[in-house]
Amino acid sequence: MKILLTGAAGLLGSQLAAALETETQVIRTTRQMLDLTNPDQVQQVVQQEAPQVVVNCAAMTGVDACELHPQAAFQHNATGPGLLAQACRKIGANLIHISTDYVFDGSKADAYTPEDHPSPLSVYGKSKLAGEQAVQNELPTACIVRVAGLYGIGGRNFASTLATLLTTPGTIRAVADNRMLTTYVPDVVNRLCDLIKGQYSGLFHVTNDGIPSSWYEFAQAGAILLGTQVRAQLVPVHEAELHRPAPRPMNSTLHCTRSEQLGLRPLPDWHEALARHLKSDR
Ligand SMILES: NC(=O)c1ccc[n+]([C@@H]2O[C@H](COP(=O)([O-])OP(=O)(O)OC[C@H]3O[C@@H](n4cnc5c(N)ncnc54)[C@H](OP(=O)(O)O)[C@@H]3O)[C@@H](O)[C@H]2O)c1
Repeated sequence: MKILLTGAAGLLGSQLAAALETETQVIRTTRQMLDLTNPDQVQQVVQQEAPQVVVNCAAMTGVDACELHPQAAFQHNATGPGLLAQACRKIGANLIHISTDYVFDGSKADAYTPEDHPSPLSVYGKSKLAGEQAVQNELPTACIVRVAGLYGIGGRNFASTLATLLTTPGTIRAVADNRMLTTYVPDVVNRLCDLIKGQYSGLFHVTNDGIPSSWYEFAQAGAILLGTQVRAQLVPVHEAELHRPAPRPMNSTLHCTRSEQLGLRPLPDWHEALARHLKSDR
């Protein structure tokens, strides 16, 4: 099988490429080789490479940057994926497209299932939802995978850099009034390999398992695991105190019902995933 990856230099794309390359031919594309905002290039590269499967790991992922630059957000996260799906349809390839928990507004008391109605709060969430719809319209066989709080080695976000933050003297202000289940990259990479091999279609939620936590509780669990190495002071804050441009859902816990129905094993508990991450990051 030949697989073409977009966003192959990103957090998820780089580790997915490395995992897939052990078993199959992978064409890693970066923004320079396949820019999602360049319709001709998208069409040309997909046609030229003629893969059986395309995995779209590319996106404009800065939630606050999207809020400040809505036009660019929609170009990257909505129009681009639609073009990619169209190019896939033309050559008979399937598309695995990565989306987000931020398509939900957080007002539900329980975890969100794939059947729940999305109602994004932020430009990022709205652009990603529009991307899901564009992909589904162009290519009904596509597989859409929503992840949440994605972290791993090489990432630049809070969870990815937690070990460095906790072991550096200073204060860490972590949001304590949100709730979610995070997604450790090596675990979602395994699930994406399952979905590619099984040629699945439709909408999937993929996160680690366990009891949902806030970012503060997540960091607290990290501090317990790092023990005497911790130098920072962890301070709980309300999301509103951070005055960030983009609103965030207070509950964005995803229920991975579809995987369960298909008999795919739940991903490991998030505490266990975090322990693996901190160990590999030291
Ligand atoms: N990180 C999270 O917490 C999180 C949570 C939920 C869902 N997700 C979703 O998970 C997916 C992967 O996220 P990630 O954290 O791996 O993102 P990432 O590390 O930011 O990687 C995204 C990649 O996309 C590339 N890219 C940006 N614009 C592009 C364009 N116009 N054409 C082609 N490539 C472009 C970037 O290249 P440059 O480096 O050149 O910009 C980068 O390599 C995304 O769909 C994201 O929305 C992420």
